[in-house]
Amino acid sequence: MASFVLKVRNLTKIYGERKAVDNISFEVFQGEIFGFLGPNGAGKTTTLKIITGLAKPTSGLVEVCGYNVVRKFEKAVNNIGGIIENPELYSYMSGIDNLKYYASLYNGITRAKIKEVIELVGMQSRIKDKVKTYSLGMRQRVGIAQALLHSPRLLVLDEPTNGLDPEGIQEMRGFLKKLAHEQKISIIISSHILSEMEQLCDTIAIIDNGKIIEVKSLQEIKQTAEKSQKISIRVDYPNYAGKIIMSKLNVEVQIAGNSIIFPLQDENIPKATSALIAKGISIYGVTTLTKSLEEVFMEIIEKHRNRSASVAIF
Ligand SMILES: Nc1ncnc2c1ncn2[C@@H]1O[C@H](COP(=O)(O)OP(=O)(O)OP(=O)(O)O)[C@@H](O)[C@H]1O
Ligand SMILES: [Mg+2]
Repeated sequence: MASFVLKVRNLTKIYGERKAVDNISFEVFQGEIFGFLGPNGAGKTTTLKIITGLAKPTSGLVEVCGYNVVRKFEKAVNNIGGIIENPELYSYMSGIDNLKYYASLYNGITRAKIKEVIELVGMQSRIKDKVKTYSLGMRQRVGIAQALLHSPRLLVLDEPTNGLDPEGIQEMRGFLKKLAHEQKISIIISSHILSEMEQLCDTIAIIDNGKIIEVKSLQEIKQTAEKSQKISIRVDYPNYAGKIIMSKLNVEVQIAGNSIIFPLQDENIPKATSALIAKGISIYGVTTLTKSLEEVFMEIIEKHRNRSASVAIF
């Protein structure tokens, strides 16, 4: 059996003349939280709609637990729970009645299961209240509880933190991680906010203009950020100091105010400082500069955009 829960191959969706999704491929493993990160109009919702069977692909393949979502729709959707755009809840009914009603549409959902999903999303205290009295965060929680009732192996969430306050986002992060890491449910989640994704996801795919331009584990992204660390040394004669470093270490040096900045490798620090001191330069401070994940991401996107722009020009 395949070890991944979701497999997407060469997926394309064309609306009229526009390629909303352009030949994307990726997979999501059991218990993995897979983030789909991209700006407005990137193709996130379209992809998630196709995965949940709400839209048909123009070409390409989507398999959930080995079932093709087009040809084996029912078997595939039995393994999927999802919220695309807003949770579908009846506002005049209580949260628990919504869940009971939804459960009645399926075979074999027990009372114990209903209780379990309510606890999973932390809605015990308000579940008997009417949905119309809920905050946005509470609605999202009940929506997710509902999506989990038929014990899917894949949870699909399209920007579920939209409109939530920081506390609400943090709570949602907590229970999504629990679902993935304890219950081994795979989660595919979209967002255009990097900081949210980096705190939640195991893997992030960057999508721009219908194309996936990078799929990386969070660990790899952090390693890239660490590798691109720089060292900054504040001195009395930066131009002179810069020349000394360039000739001694054979690295590129930038000058910013009274500081010289160059790539950090461990042996550089003692080499650089002793070379400067030997030439009579005074050192006022040594700092290491680490790239933020934001900068690493922006670089990936910029690089890709420049590449496709040059293709378009030539
Ligand atoms: N039903 C549709 N008919 C025509 N074009 C569509 C349709 N749905 C989406 N599109 C187009 O497909 C592209 C991708 O849209 P999509 O909604 O997937 O983006 P998104 O990444 O979810 O953006 P957002 O962050 O704004 O939610 C956009 O250019 C959009 O205008
Ligand atoms: Mg969208």
